[in-house]
Amino acid sequence: MTDITTALVNKSVEEAIQYLLEQYPGAVAFSTSFGQEDQVISDIIWRNQLPVRVFTLDTGRLFQETYDVMDLTMARYKQPVEVYYPDTTAVEKLVSTKGPNSFYESVENRKECCGIRKIVPLNRALEGVKVWITGLRAEQSENRQGMEILEWDEHRHLYKFNPLIHWGYDEVLAYLEQHNVPYNKLHDKGFISIGCAPCTRAIEPGENPRAGRWWWEQSQKECGLHG
Ligand code: ADX
Ligand code: SF4
Repeated sequence: MTDITTALVNKSVEEAIQYLLEQYPGAVAFSTSFGQEDQVISDIIWRNQLPVRVFTLDTGRLFQETYDVMDLTMARYKQPVEVYYPDTTAVEKLVSTKGPNSFYESVENRKECCGIRKIVPLNRALEGVKVWITGLRAEQSENRQGMEILEWDEHRHLYKFNPLIHWGYDEVLAYLEQHNVPYNKLHDKGFISIGCAPCTRAIEPGENPRAGRWWWEQSQKECGLHG
């Protein structure tokens, strides 16, 4: 266990972020997709006025309901959210040559689209960042079960802080209710994990929480953001 991980033991999410801000002033950023976990973290950041940069990646293919919760969140907290868009030339080239739905054709094409619309903008958003906060939870998938609260991202040379990694879904829901936090209305329609509109569907009771993501694939269901 690194010193920094040891220091985080027994700290609340708020205290842990505060500690990381002291270690890396001005270099802590949180990525939000406005999903349930992310709404918990945003609420903790803004309720406690923690000076964390909050950013989102707008792939250009999000659900209207996601824009609605983004809007509600910005109105409620009146805090800046940095919105990152994909490179125009790269999107123009992709859609002009392969059409708007190339991601359904192969995992390779799907990863190409995620690369252009998410990964490149993410890496831009993370320039100069030393601590990247995410809303990952271990329960979400097998791949995420092996993740720690604090991880060293070898590729990006920064710490990834996953404060809710060991939270249960019930804890997330209880927090949202207790603090009356705005949430994506798609959650009321059977959606759990929400990404881009053409690549996300609702799930049936008992299905894996990420079963609705890239549902036509047998892949690990990750886009390169987290594995
Ligand atoms: S994904 O890799 O499959 O898209 P998921 O939707 O489970 O990720 O979200 C996990 C975490 O990744 C979120 O808590 C958030 O920190 C980050 N994330 C995912 N999508 C976005 C996005 N569009 N903008 C910003 N952060 C995102
Ligand atoms: Fe493209 Fe789908 Fe990935 Fe969104 S989730 S970036 S639409 S392949």
